[in-house]
Amino acid sequence: MTKQIKFFDTTLRDGEQTIGVNFSVEQKVEIAKALEAWGVDYIEAGFPIASPEDFRAVNAIAKTIKHTTVTGLARLVRKDMDAVRDAIAPAPHQMLHTFIATSPIHREYKLHMTKAEMIAKIRSDVAYGKSMFDVVEFSPEDASRTEPDFLVEAVQAAIDAGATMINIPDTVGYDDPEEFGAIFANLKAHIANFDQIEWAAHTHNDLGMAMANAMAAIKNGATQVQGTINGLGDRAGNVDEIQVAAAIHVRGDFYDAETNINLPETKRVSEIVAEASSIAVGPNRPIVGANAFAHESGIHQDGMLKNRQTYEILVPEDVGMHTSLPLGKLSGSHAVMNKLNEMGYHVNREMMGDIFPMFKAIADETDLVTPAEMIVMMQDYKTQQ
Ligand code: KIV
Ligand code: ZN
Repeated sequence: MTKQIKFFDTTLRDGEQTIGVNFSVEQKVEIAKALEAWGVDYIEAGFPIASPEDFRAVNAIAKTIKHTTVTGLARLVRKDMDAVRDAIAPAPHQMLHTFIATSPIHREYKLHMTKAEMIAKIRSDVAYGKSMFDVVEFSPEDASRTEPDFLVEAVQAAIDAGATMINIPDTVGYDDPEEFGAIFANLKAHIANFDQIEWAAHTHNDLGMAMANAMAAIKNGATQVQGTINGLGDRAGNVDEIQVAAAIHVRGDFYDAETNINLPETKRVSEIVAEASSIAVGPNRPIVGANAFAHESGIHQDGMLKNRQTYEILVPEDVGMHTSLPLGKLSGSHAVMNKLNEMGYHVNREMMGDIFPMFKAIADETDLVTPAEMIVMMQDYKTQQ
């Protein structure tokens, strides 16, 4: 059966941990509205215990967002959970997201806890969260560096205490896709009620593998992806949800999956986050970069003019983008003729015998040939006839 992949957006929490990014309350509300329009299933609106400003922002989002589930992050600490409860109280659909780090390095150096103490804490404090929320998502932070047996034990304790969603974070972007997929396969083999739980992948991009790891998780049973718009996030960032949504759209058969994402809103949500974060989208960023559907070489332009599928695996309009065939020194005669005809000149192949060398001469001197330069070129051509 085709899997429904849910999107848990953490642009406003993990994404805001990007160096130099500090959204105002108004910007957060604007982003949350754009995320709802884009179709994410869950919005992690912030970390309410972190500061009064964060609490206010989460609360403002909870008052605004009517259809999407709103959550806030809480350490596995009761006062954090109380803060989430109070901040998201106005939201019609709500859930709790709580975490504790389970890996040896975090247990020993950060938390000073034994395994037994940690399991006891998971049991008691997830149950506390469950007494306030119907839906509790538990994250064993640094899961990818946690001993597999202990990860199973920690996750089972959280499920026994009432968690219905389990998120597996590759907190420091350490895993290779094969390893990360194997974590889900191991949990499937050892958690009795695996299929009744919504399993999430939360991947970071330290080694550039956030996307591959998220997709490997989906292949191995994850039905929720946690990520950010434009890949914002600590250090090298989180997985870019836009890429996950596009991959499932293009390769749905391969992943046997679909999403609730409203793809034509993709460019808009990306632009809103780029503007608010003051982090521009790089030109070669997949899907939303200015060059993602631009074709300059003559061979590619010729192919595109014959059939767009020669060099496009996704219809750009489906994600709010457009194809462009910028004209430069690599362009061929077919594309130049096509552009001139689009501009209203009636040019045929025979005329191109004279026009194309003129175009090449201009293109050799410049980067891309502009429409204004094409107009001057055609004036010169006409005076020469
Ligand atoms: O990367 C991480 O482990 C996190 C958790 C809080 C889910 O962001
Ligand atoms: Zn994270």
